[in-house]
Parts: sequence; C-alpha cells; structure tokens
Amino acid sequence: MNYIGLPQKDTKKVAAKLNTLLASYSVYYQNLRSFHWHIRGKNFYEIHRLFEDLYNDAKVKIDDAAERILTIGQKPLGSMSGFLKHTKIKESYDIMADEKMAAIILKNHKDLIKMIRDVIKVAGDVKDEGTVDMLAGFLTYLEKTSWMLSAWKDKAETSATR
Ligand SMILES: [Fe+2]
Repeated sequence: MNYIGLPQKDTKKVAAKLNTLLASYSVYYQNLRSFHWHIRGKNFYEIHRLFEDLYNDAKVKIDDAAERILTIGQKPLGSMSGFLKHTKIKESYDIMADEKMAAIILKNHKDLIKMIRDVIKVAGDVKDEGTVDMLAGFLTYLEKTSWMLSAWKDKAETSATR
C-alpha cells in the first residue's frame, strides 16, 4: 500500500497500461505537429489551426498521464526511444492532402479511444477511481473532436464531388 491506499501490484498494472497510453499520445502529438507543418490542400488554414488546437490539448493530456503514473507511485516513460518502443499509434509525417491527414488523425483517435476504454476497465477493477476520472476527460475530448473532424471531412468530401 502507498499513500493513496492501493496495493503496489495493482498500481503497477495500471501504470503499465498508462505508459502505453502515454507513449501512444506522444506519437499522436508529434503526428499532429508534423501535419500542422506539412498540410497541403484547399482547406489549409482551417485544418492547420485545428491540428494546433489538438496538439495543444494532447500536450496537457501527456503531462496529466505522466504525472498520474507518478502519483500512483510508478515511473513514466520519458524518452523518444521508450515512446517509440511502447506506442500503439504509428508515426505519420509525410506531406499529404488535408483530407488524408484528417482520416489518419481520426484513426489515431479511434485507437486512443479503444486504449483508454481498456485502461478505464483495468483501473476500475482495482478501484483506482482517480485514474478512471482523469481518463473520462481524455475520452470525452477525443470523442467530441472526432465528431468535429468527421463532420469536417464529410463536408470537404461533399464539396469536392460537386
Ligand atoms: Fe504553428
């Protein structure tokens, strides 16, 4: 037991899941930065700004996840090589059209959402409600911005076929 009253074996299990999430979020963050720089297409400015909003949010979430791991008495990953080793999100950094980038970010969101639901389950099973509470915020933001991104993509595709 530590100061938050959870057994070490349980916090270890949660931290391992959170570290995979931290690594994946870090790659997702870099994907957004690269897309923000390399975007091409007629919707340049709109999506350039949207990616900036998303990476600014991801930056906060990355810090929250790492500090949650520390709060439960475990060690967060901190190196690029560690992130690349543990990430479940693939690196994407090529120059490409705005709609293609939106599709990749939507897929990143889908994978992150799946991972978060999995960590919520593991954390809930060991009564780590603090982690569950934090992750609920991660989830709702990703779900909301996926809806926005998907609506934007539909609009862009509709106007392209006109
Ligand atoms: Fe910028």
